[in-house]
Amino acid sequence: MLDTLKDYSVVYSFDRSGYERHARHFSELNATSLAGKHFLVTGGTRGIGQAITEGLLAYGAEVTVSARSDRDYRANFGHHSRVRFLPLDLADFNAVMAADLSVYDGVVLNAGGMPDKLQVVEDRFDVIFASQVVGHFLLVRRLITEGSLKPLSPVHWVASGGMYLQKLNLSDLSWQRTDYDKVKSYANAKRAQVILNELMAQRFKNFTFSCSHPGWVATQALADALPGFTKKLGHRLRTPEQGADTILWCLEQGRKLKSGRFWFDRRARKTHPFFWTREREADRLALLELLEAEWHAHQSIPSKVATSVN
Ligand SMILES: NC(=O)c1ccc[n+]([C@@H]2O[C@H](COP(=O)([O-])OP(=O)(O)OC[C@H]3O[C@@H](n4cnc5c(N)ncnc54)[C@H](OP(=O)(O)O)[C@@H]3O)[C@@H](O)[C@H]2O)c1
Repeated sequence: MLDTLKDYSVVYSFDRSGYERHARHFSELNATSLAGKHFLVTGGTRGIGQAITEGLLAYGAEVTVSARSDRDYRANFGHHSRVRFLPLDLADFNAVMAADLSVYDGVVLNAGGMPDKLQVVEDRFDVIFASQVVGHFLLVRRLITEGSLKPLSPVHWVASGGMYLQKLNLSDLSWQRTDYDKVKSYANAKRAQVILNELMAQRFKNFTFSCSHPGWVATQALADALPGFTKKLGHRLRTPEQGADTILWCLEQGRKLKSGRFWFDRRARKTHPFFWTREREADRLALLELLEAEWHAHQSIPSKVATSVN
């Protein structure tokens, strides 16, 4: 009863105490189901992505980490023989279509941030929506279409609890008619990821889609984006390892999970605690149509497909 009340409080659920309470019921992951596999982790160079990568390495997997800069990769993994770096700006759609991909046993769509200033991409999207939604969609579409993702592999979206208060809004994705609001843009992009997880699960039945939110995690990104929040809740924030736990668990569970569900601390959760965030079916389809249009518009970019891991 008290635990349920704490979960409703949000603070005592998304924070470190929430993780510790939920983790009392967790069991060890089965390392053998990840060993020898090759995963792609976007934004795997630092923060939660670094913890996902370290977890995968500990279970014997190989990991390709992507990011715009190789600075954090060199600092955190430069010495590791089972980690390689893929330079990739997810807001550069031509770069996503041309990226030098390998063949993977799973992909984690983790890269993200909340820049203070508005940056518009291809006149249509701000950089948050461009990188976290469009870029990731193009990447998954390529992986599936080109056979770079082995059949039955997991595809995991790292969303945020920030989307709980946001209804999908596809109007003015480049903030031309209203003042740029990074928190709203971020929440909208995360809401779009949650919806895409469901829609792609219905469409691509040969893969296992999952999506989660990590809780509040002490990373540089959070400190930069929300300094006041971080200062106030600093001691309550989760570690990156705690933030990565459910993501690793989803990868380990693989086909055992029902595709398209949303997870927090290893439990399937509702995506709409509030009725007023529910999107219309037409808006869900509009999101998919918009992304398919981007996919077709960027088809002519020649891509490189590597077939070997090394
Ligand atoms: N920290 C939290 O409390 C929290 C809560 C909810 C959800 N999340 C989500 O968890 C994920 C990881 O966040 P984090 O806190 O670990 O952030 P972080 O420490 O800043 O790591 C972000 C990673 O994404 C990469 N990245 C950022 N923008 C990119 C772009 N346009 N193209 C390609 N790569 C890009 C970064 O590398 P480069 O800068 O070199 O590109 C870095 O590797 C994000 O999706 C975030 O929204 C975090």
